[in-house]
Amino acid sequence: MSLFATVDLGSKKVAVAIAKKQKDGSVKVLSVFTQPSRGVERGRIVNLLEASKVLRESIEAAEREADSQVNDVYINIGGKGAEMIQGTGRTYVVGNTITRREKKRAIENAGAVSLPPDREVIHILPFLYMVNNMKVEEPEGMLGNSLDVKVQVITHSAIALRNLEGMVRRVGFFPRKIVLNHVANMESLVNEEDREAGVMLVDMGAETTEVALVHRKMLYRIFTYEMGGKDFTKDISIEFGITMKNAERMKIKYASLLDEEDETDSVSVDLMDGTQRTLVLSELKNAIFPRAEKLFRSIMEDITSVGWQINRTNGIILTGGGSKLKGLREYMAHYFSSVVRVSGPRVTLGVFDFPEEYMIPEFSLLVGLLRFVAEREDSLPGGDISSLFKGLKQKIFRRK
Ligand SMILES: Nc1ncnc2c1ncn2[C@@H]1O[C@H](COP(=O)(O)OP(=O)(O)OP(=O)(O)O)[C@@H](O)[C@H]1O
Ligand SMILES: [Mg+2]
Repeated sequence: MSLFATVDLGSKKVAVAIAKKQKDGSVKVLSVFTQPSRGVERGRIVNLLEASKVLRESIEAAEREADSQVNDVYINIGGKGAEMIQGTGRTYVVGNTITRREKKRAIENAGAVSLPPDREVIHILPFLYMVNNMKVEEPEGMLGNSLDVKVQVITHSAIALRNLEGMVRRVGFFPRKIVLNHVANMESLVNEEDREAGVMLVDMGAETTEVALVHRKMLYRIFTYEMGGKDFTKDISIEFGITMKNAERMKIKYASLLDEEDETDSVSVDLMDGTQRTLVLSELKNAIFPRAEKLFRSIMEDITSVGWQINRTNGIILTGGGSKLKGLREYMAHYFSSVVRVSGPRVTLGVFDFPEEYMIPEFSLLVGLLRFVAEREDSLPGGDISSLFKGLKQKIFRRK
């Protein structure tokens, strides 16, 4: 395997990286391209034609920049419709050394859960191994009679997967693997210490917010909310009767959830009817505050219902373009009584030459996809798409 593309198809932007998988498993980035996306709403494809066009344009632009062509595409999928179940699997080794093969077999067994026809497995994530009923961190190379593994099996809607896969194929590429947003984000944002201690990962995009709870090396729970940065813009637009474009500008430049001294300062805005009005900053804050509160309340309800104790973890990592809203971090820290770090991609191990200018919260997921290829893409089940696209692995010829 050599050249491939990773694609983050978001509600606001699409981001593509062209990279090369090297002999040692690491990936070298050749180009990154981004542009506004189309045909995607709340993280889901709502206009296949538009989304296809934007996908093709973006991969081709990235190819031109890299001066190379790719066939394999790794693309993200949102968490709406994703579910997680636990599985266990066992394989017998009868006194022999445990190799990758046994590990693979045990994981495969653990992932073989029975599913209704409208669901498919997209990830099998092992989190616990036992050799001869004793817990071990890494079974490879050990002697034993039996190997047990516990896994988190992530399933998704078969239709959503087919649509995404079909779209990639239709524009002339091979959909090598569909990666859940939460899984990709975990790769680039959660380091070893956080993985062990526990951390809540929050990716606030334009139209969705994805939450992942990671604990004891395991993706413990995933949640998806159909709310994001654009909703703050909408609130401002409606409250003051200004265009979305103007509201977006106001949000980025002036809006804040902080208690600031200059809240009585005012700015002038153009209204839709052509007139102007002055707007006091505290009014702007009041317009967006309920939205943040509503989102945090939903998250709090969900994490509480699964017994997540934030005070016993390494806190919260906040990413995605929405995380840049002034004061969001502080309000979140207050709301959840926790430490909140706003972060772009933090873990880049195994990924080389990712351009510095894209090391910002909007591109955490793209780096996560690259890390996914560097870290996991191997012969282990769940890391390879072969189970997902049985019999369809023939070489796809480029259009033109
Ligand atoms: N400085 C800023 N202040 C406030 N919001 C910002 C700022 N910069 C970007 N945003 C918001 O970030 C959002 C875009 O984030 P991102 O690029 O992560 O979205 P996306 O991945 O395309 O969407 P999604 O993940 O929901 O499908 C927009 O709503 C934008 O208004
Ligand atoms: Mg996103």
